[in-house]
Amino acid sequence: MSQPTLQATLQGLTTTKAPFIEKARANGEIYIRQPYELYSEENHRTWQQLFARMRDRWRRYANDRYLMGLDRLFTARDHDHVPRLEDVNRFMQSLTGFRARPVSGYVPSYIFFDCLRRREFPTTVTIRDGQTLEYLPEPDIFHDIAGHVPMHTDRAFASALVRFGECARTAAQLASAISDDGERLRRLTSNIRAMSRFFWFTVEFGLMRAQSQAAASNGAGNDALKVYGSGLLSSYGEIAHAIDAPEVQRYPFQIEWVVNQVFEIDHYQPLLFIVDSFDHLYQLVDELEDWIRRGKLDNVAPGEPLVKEADLRSFLDAEATPAAPDSSAAE
Ligand SMILES: [Fe+2]
Repeated sequence: MSQPTLQATLQGLTTTKAPFIEKARANGEIYIRQPYELYSEENHRTWQQLFARMRDRWRRYANDRYLMGLDRLFTARDHDHVPRLEDVNRFMQSLTGFRARPVSGYVPSYIFFDCLRRREFPTTVTIRDGQTLEYLPEPDIFHDIAGHVPMHTDRAFASALVRFGECARTAAQLASAISDDGERLRRLTSNIRAMSRFFWFTVEFGLMRAQSQAAASNGAGNDALKVYGSGLLSSYGEIAHAIDAPEVQRYPFQIEWVVNQVFEIDHYQPLLFIVDSFDHLYQLVDELEDWIRRGKLDNVAPGEPLVKEADLRSFLDAEATPAAPDSSAAE
């Protein structure tokens, strides 16, 4: 392997400022390697700071399964450095087989969901600028590894992620059978919007009823609720806001509401939904697929999130390419 130049090392792998990533994107590469040698000292320091200040918040607000996953993943590991994805993946192999797969940035939605179906989690390798530790709209490696991966140690949760991938495949198959081009695009747009909303209000910003007495008496302001959404688990400010702020609306998860609910990504979420358990989450994703099959997601409310041309294209192309091997036998 060639040695990084001094300039590349000084620039590091900072979000929006990494030439390595810019080059990969310019070449149209979605999947990349984690160029570990390019992390700067400041990048490692940022990871250390992010991790250290979240620890108390995780103990107070996160659900039990996340905490167990976190302890297993990071116990006896060095918290002071950005993790190597190969180490994370070796650890995950015997648990649920979920792998962190490095990507250059935005992944079109079908490709993203299809990765989940194969137990691969598209993972950003850059880390936020140390000057702005709070939530940022772009994912970074702290969000993807510290926010998501501990959840992937739970079998029911991991199965629910795989089920999301199967939902996307079902939507692509149904769309391919529609002969009218305009109608095919219209229904796909609606299906993708619905799946994105469902994913957002569960995997990214979901709340869950506390599973145990111990968790319920952990000292949180609202003892009955715990966080399992990774957008919350990687945000120092919002994890507390989601549980404690009186102005946040928190309601039991209702699929007909969630798939029609717009969301914005540039401020704390004013509305959150609560599931009972990870088995409940799995059942809900099952129901999502049933709704796709029955055409109940073909006319969801317009509005955010916007469905990009690349998202639509990824679904349209899905049927033209052979299905990737199913790795669900990993459990
Ligand atoms: Fe995420």
